[in-house]
Amino acid sequence: MSIVEQFKNRTPKSRRLFGRAVGALPGGLTHDLRHQHPYPLYVSHGEGPRKWDADGNEYIDYHGGHGALLLGHGRPEIVAAVRRQAARGTHLGGSHEQELRWAELVTDLIPSAEKVRFTASGTEAAMLALRLARAHTGGSKFIRFRGHFHGWYDQFVAGYVSRFEGAAPAGVPPEVASAALIADPGDEDAVLRFMDAEAGIAAIILEPTGAHFGAGPLDPSFLSFLRDVVTDSNIVLIFDEVVTGFRVSPGGAQAHYGVTPDLTTLGKVLGGGLGGGAVAGRADILSHLDFEAAAKAGREKIGHPGTHNGNPLSAAAGIAALEIVAGTDACERANSSGEALRRMLNQVLTDEKVPWSVYGEFSGFNLFTNPGNRQVLPLEFDPARIDPSELTGIDPELLGLVRLAMLINGVDVTPRFSGWISAVHGDRDLRQTAEAFQRTIGMLKKESVIEA
Ligand SMILES: Cc1ncc(COP(=O)(O)O)c(C=O)c1O
Repeated sequence: MSIVEQFKNRTPKSRRLFGRAVGALPGGLTHDLRHQHPYPLYVSHGEGPRKWDADGNEYIDYHGGHGALLLGHGRPEIVAAVRRQAARGTHLGGSHEQELRWAELVTDLIPSAEKVRFTASGTEAAMLALRLARAHTGGSKFIRFRGHFHGWYDQFVAGYVSRFEGAAPAGVPPEVASAALIADPGDEDAVLRFMDAEAGIAAIILEPTGAHFGAGPLDPSFLSFLRDVVTDSNIVLIFDEVVTGFRVSPGGAQAHYGVTPDLTTLGKVLGGGLGGGAVAGRADILSHLDFEAAAKAGREKIGHPGTHNGNPLSAAAGIAALEIVAGTDACERANSSGEALRRMLNQVLTDEKVPWSVYGEFSGFNLFTNPGNRQVLPLEFDPARIDPSELTGIDPELLGLVRLAMLINGVDVTPRFSGWISAVHGDRDLRQTAEAFQRTIGMLKKESVIEA
């Protein structure tokens, strides 16, 4: 039976739910990453590193709440904190002590965070960071890097999944898209050229461990280069640590690499599995949000309302999560499980003589499917030597089948065959994932998707 038929046989409830969903949701979906042939998986609940679909099938989960669940599903301390807060009020329409404790944890952990402002999502954090940088510098352009993701705000979508040359994607006015000066990740000359040629650059923004949490790797020396070049300029350096914050290390990538940006955007782990984002950074830049400071400086304050900024439920979950991040080896555990899993999956590829590789850093992984038919030794593969377009040159049909086969074998990876490992994935989970991957490769060979 084909991979698609096997998936359909296991997931009749998902098929029925998707049939209903297309009547109410555009394309039947609420997030682009859930798009898959023949239909998305409907998940009913999760616990620790595992989750179950609507038909009761069990999966080892590497989707990890899109990276939010460093501590897995249903972490008891977080569940208890959310329950307690829900009973006291889900929105208090006023300032509350939890937002303060949440902010103090951020300023304690993140090196650049002198002050912090909460938003409702990582996308909103990027919007606010750019607004702050523009208000602070008076510039309107900004440098960003091809393939780096900063959410779906108009300003950040050119140069991400499409329009790599910077043209305006559907629904974005060309004059908005043209504010983004797009450089290749790691291209120091391009940054210097832009700084030379363009007046009024407000910011440089990047994912400090490379596009999509290292799917497109970045030499960390580039971070120091950027830090150095902006220090004598009027440009604000923004690290997008929505994924890497509280994950790579308790202090994020900036603590790990010892390079401190001016502003940091945060999300995901910040909210302990509930919605939330934040901009943290230099007090003088964040003072553009401060009524008194703006009045004193005789300048217009940046307006920043937002119904769910610092929402008490997110704050309760976030405090519980960040206290665990600060007080335990959660980040280290996730990182070492990441390394172990990548090695185990590459051993499978080696044993099966498949010239692909699973690469990544920290608690992430990505699959290189070798579109150029290179000679690849999976365990020795160095993604930094491959052109980024080849590295991430994904054949969606092939990856779609790989993902379905992994689901059939009880493992949920993203449709790009990437994933986030949590601090609660244990040896048994990793071993079972490697076994599932081996069976997956067997199925792909049987279906002649890859050479036997
Ligand atoms: C690096 C990065 N920045 C920003 C965002 C946007 O965050 P959100 O989905 O909370 O809007 C994401 C989301 O995946 C992300 O990975």
